[in-house]
Amino acid sequence: MTPLKVAVAGLGTVGAGVVRLLRDNGGMLAERCGRPIALTAVSARDRSRDRGVDLSGVPWFDDALALATEADCDVVVELIGGSDGIARDLSEAAFARGRHVVTANKALMAEHGVELAVAAEAAGVTLAYEAAVAGGIPIIKGLREGLAANRISGISGILNGTCNYILSEMRDSGRDFEIVLAEAQAHGYAEADPSFDVDGVDAAHKLAILAAIAFNTQVAFDAVHVEGIRHVSALDITFAEELGYRIKLLGLANERPDGIELRVHACMIPSGAAIAAVEGVFNAVVAQGDFVDQVMMVGRGAGAGPTASAVVADLIDIARGDPAPALGAPAASLRRLPVVPMDRRHGAYYLRLMVVDKPGVIADIAAAMRDNEISLESLLQHGRSTSEAVAVVITTHETEESAMVRALDTIAGLDAVVEPPRLIRIEPLIH
Ligand SMILES: NC(=O)c1ccc[n+]([C@@H]2O[C@H](COP(=O)([O-])OP(=O)(O)OC[C@H]3O[C@@H](n4cnc5c(N)ncnc54)[C@H](OP(=O)(O)O)[C@@H]3O)[C@@H](O)[C@H]2O)c1
Repeated sequence: MTPLKVAVAGLGTVGAGVVRLLRDNGGMLAERCGRPIALTAVSARDRSRDRGVDLSGVPWFDDALALATEADCDVVVELIGGSDGIARDLSEAAFARGRHVVTANKALMAEHGVELAVAAEAAGVTLAYEAAVAGGIPIIKGLREGLAANRISGISGILNGTCNYILSEMRDSGRDFEIVLAEAQAHGYAEADPSFDVDGVDAAHKLAILAAIAFNTQVAFDAVHVEGIRHVSALDITFAEELGYRIKLLGLANERPDGIELRVHACMIPSGAAIAAVEGVFNAVVAQGDFVDQVMMVGRGAGAGPTASAVVADLIDIARGDPAPALGAPAASLRRLPVVPMDRRHGAYYLRLMVVDKPGVIADIAAAMRDNEISLESLLQHGRSTSEAVAVVITTHETEESAMVRALDTIAGLDAVVEPPRLIRIEPLIH
């Protein structure tokens, strides 16, 4: 039995996890693949660092690019990170040498996935990236293989565990974003620089990858509308509960007659929806297929174990000689669908205003809505004060985002409205 020879570049959280999994489950993997998976080379920056795994006897490369071209291997596993630089260079170098590439790198795949898929196809090798989206959840295989017979009309996902943890904690404890973020950092659930997570960029990377597979289309990453969760307050979470909603950061990709919608933002979703119950660091993806109907997958979106599970699943496919095309179809056949601009989003809205309660203020707000043909579904106000601002919460029926933006412009300019209005989109989660 010829082993599949694997070289791992990057021995951080994920890389060390992959090495441990290959060691712990090696015998079982050999049975499942019909051949062993052998670790034949590794690379990282600091050779002296203890990584908690036994690397004795495994050739070490200080230069990851040299590992990609010179190591004795069939597959290069890229676990360094970053959309450009060494991760991209070593992937291209591996393809040029006729080597398969497995990566967990969502930034690389979101920004250069199509070019890399083209390079892999030209070289007759595999590009695999199950770990790049939703960690341990096998959503790439799920969409690309399990649901391949369906036209997918939409995907919604909780794609960032850090944001989901923060929003869950804010709801449970009634505390505000900054306090819960600091606690998440102390527990290691959020990075020292949390911006990629809390500003929605990480979720957008994953959404771009999922949309490419779901809709057989090339996705320009910068076409994704991205918002994070910094503006979500404990007060909004309380109002959401009262209205029967839960606030989640979702990645949403929908195919419409005029193109695809690609957006990441905080959403109010019905508290009875299955995805609303996914709390803490867990991720979830819901896909709507024309024959299968709705499918939801839930699991851990990060961490050494779940991510290693996904990386090694890709290695197993390669060892068995049975990998699917990277993006679900030959890269040259991917469509270029137009992306629907955000101001054409059609849906309902939650609006919270801080208002000094003067006569006529509610009438002025209602007039701004009426002038933009927005009909109100509900209006909530607890307490009243002519000296201090009180929260007025409005939910609307479905309207175009452009109309909401115009109404908000007028409302924000009213004397009695003392803080910038807070807007959260309501998503019924029907694709
Ligand atoms: N962590 C997760 O839960 C998770 C989940 C899904 C996907 N991912 C993705 O997996 C990838 C790795 O993430 P991670 O969390 O494991 O990162 P990490 O802990 O920061 O590890 C990165 C590794 O890359 C090595 N490295 C950096 N620059 C290098 C270079 N020029 N040459 C050789 N090695 C280099 C580092 O070496 P030293 O150790 O010597 O510094 C380190 O071992 C990223 O693309 C990330 O987005 C991570």
